[in-house]
Amino acid sequence: MWKDWIRPLVRPLPQWSTIAMAPPQAVVGATLRWEGGIADVTNDHTVASLKPLVVATSIDAGLHPTLEYRDSTSGKLIGALKLSRMASVVSDGASVAVYHVVAGEHRCLGWPRRPWNAWLQNRLMLKHPSAQHALMAPSAVQQLMIAYLCPRPVVLVSVDTEDHRNMFPMDLIGPLGHDGLFSLALRSTNVSATVMLQSRRVALSSIPAAMKATVYKLSEHHRLPLTDWQSLPLAVRPSRTFGIPVVADALRVHELAIEHAQEIGSHTFFLGRIVSEERRVDGHQLHHTPGFHQVFRRRHHAPFAEI
Ligand SMILES: Cc1cc2nc3c(=O)[nH]c(=O)nc-3n(C[C@H](O)[C@H](O)[C@H](O)COP(=O)(O)O)c2cc1C
Repeated sequence: MWKDWIRPLVRPLPQWSTIAMAPPQAVVGATLRWEGGIADVTNDHTVASLKPLVVATSIDAGLHPTLEYRDSTSGKLIGALKLSRMASVVSDGASVAVYHVVAGEHRCLGWPRRPWNAWLQNRLMLKHPSAQHALMAPSAVQQLMIAYLCPRPVVLVSVDTEDHRNMFPMDLIGPLGHDGLFSLALRSTNVSATVMLQSRRVALSSIPAAMKATVYKLSEHHRLPLTDWQSLPLAVRPSRTFGIPVVADALRVHELAIEHAQEIGSHTFFLGRIVSEERRVDGHQLHHTPGFHQVFRRRHHAPFAEI
């Protein structure tokens, strides 16, 4: 059909694909390269702030490292971010290096589709500003998409104190290093950010892909706390150590003791230790990756299961 041919010429790809995959993702490997060093950071890097766009890792990679993303099957380089060292975040003896993203490029699309799609996407962002676009320049959103080439799992974060309870989705999360250090980057305007700082306890429910619609609905709780746990559109049960209500159908539940929190630009960067991990059922978790990554996968006859 002529429409299938003409569509990519006039319509940008969706920025994000919501996909189902078993955790932990291993389809893309991430490598940090710097003068005289190289380190696998597939399970050791995360986004720490959106404005400015900042990534964090436990690796000290000098002043100007590059973060590379490679397709695990073919070894092909599919994207890279150029980083510039900011300060370190120190928490209870552990040091986390934070880097400003200064440039980025992906190779999921060939030329000229790659610059053309970016131009179409950027034009759409400027035409229809959303909350995220108001926060970030289109060029930074393009770099953020590259940071999601390692598909990011979605969790529901539970916070529970005597006078504040909440459950909201997050994907700017992840382990850093091998010592049980775990980070969350939460917009400082979130209604639960200060409560998390005071209570120092959260529980993370890994969400089955089939619960996508419910999870997206809960994004309103970034602005609005819960009135009571019964008002949630899903069943909950208490977490193992803290007794915080978590998703009854979660694939896994992690409890986190927060040790440190620091504002980095638009976000509060929380660092904590995993207190408990319950592996409840094997299954496919909701993940996010950029739309151009799905095009790359389709071209290589291995599309992600989109939901
Ligand atoms: C699946 C999903 C994951 C999200 N992950 C994060 C996150 O990691 N950190 C964060 O600050 N906000 C996160 N958000 C919240 C959004 O960025 C946004 O702030 C929220 O939906 C409220 O939107 P509003 O500011 O337009 O009301 C997430 C939202 C969804 C739906």
